[in-house]
Amino acid sequence: MSDYTTLEADARERIAGAADLMALETLRVEFLGKQGSISGLLKTLGTMSGDERLEKGPKIQGLRQSISDALAERKAAMEAAALAERLATETIDLTLPAPEAPTGSVHPVSQVMDELAEIFADLGFSVATGPEIEGDWYNFTALNMPESHPARAMHDTFYFPAHDAAQADQDHAQGGRMLLRTHTSPVQVRTMLAEGAPLRIIAPGRVYRSDSDATHTPMFHQIEGLVIDRDIHLGHLKWTLETFLKAFFEREDIVLRLRPSYFPFTEPSVEVDVGFALVDGKRVLGGSGDAPGHAWMELLGSGMVNRKVIALGGLDPDVWQGFAFGVGVDRLAMLKYGMDDLRAFFDGDVRWLRHYGFSFLDQPTLSAGVGARA
Ligand code: PHE
Repeated sequence: MSDYTTLEADARERIAGAADLMALETLRVEFLGKQGSISGLLKTLGTMSGDERLEKGPKIQGLRQSISDALAERKAAMEAAALAERLATETIDLTLPAPEAPTGSVHPVSQVMDELAEIFADLGFSVATGPEIEGDWYNFTALNMPESHPARAMHDTFYFPAHDAAQADQDHAQGGRMLLRTHTSPVQVRTMLAEGAPLRIIAPGRVYRSDSDATHTPMFHQIEGLVIDRDIHLGHLKWTLETFLKAFFEREDIVLRLRPSYFPFTEPSVEVDVGFALVDGKRVLGGSGDAPGHAWMELLGSGMVNRKVIALGGLDPDVWQGFAFGVGVDRLAMLKYGMDDLRAFFDGDVRWLRHYGFSFLDQPTLSAGVGARA
């Protein structure tokens, strides 16, 4: 056995006997470190004759390789043993209750808007939007409510003062004096002007009126519907409203009553009532309002879009016609989920939100809604 073989066997034995990673590192320094024994042997190569170097060079290199392999193997084995030990001793108790992470909830208004968007998406409607700070022209004039029209009185709103002449000019360019929009109907005209026809849109959003009691808040939510095409009639309106209300309230027995009414921007105009019964003091929709124990409740305004509005929307009213409707989102939420005071919607009381809010995992669909919650 050459010296090298003995050296190798000796080193391997010590490596195999190393107790831990620290001991192993000490051995690595001892053999392979700058001042290490193998490094020392490698340095002697420089002092050898050519023949001797040819003979011993490969052996010393082989020795170095063997020791470094042994160190690596031992290190891997130690690490594997340490892992196996941890896996065996550190167990996770899955029966322990997880620490509760605070999560918010989806406000019923947002939830209902999502539900409506989902239902109407299945009927081929897309979502359109418009500004809440609106020009007088879009909010009133283009909807056939010229200056001093009596219908404006019912839409008393918040107006912005024009600060100076430049501001007044800009207001005019944006559709007249600026105000907080009183309904989502201005989106009808905006969308006709921007996209032309045919159209099938809904426009959800905030609207404002100077009104405040248990059933009215100065800010509330509406969803506007608008269909413009060549052969649209009241039957399409009725079918669309019935289909959407049945899907939204998750009841097949929703009965509608269409009543003649008046809106400047629709002709003819229909107010839509829905039949309900009082059950334990709560309104439960379903059945005819004329049935025993039932009554009618006004739910939304709608009608065939007035020819003047279609023309102001940049379309030829002899070619295009359609229907529109507007419905209060907060109202729909109250009816579906059984809340009775509209003001609570906007108080920001966390207890109310926890009670009536929705998990962000409650994804509404046309066929399944968000499940019975009432
Ligand atoms: N904009 C009307 C309102 O706020 C509702 C409506 C919309 C009526 C569309 C007819 C057609 O009262």
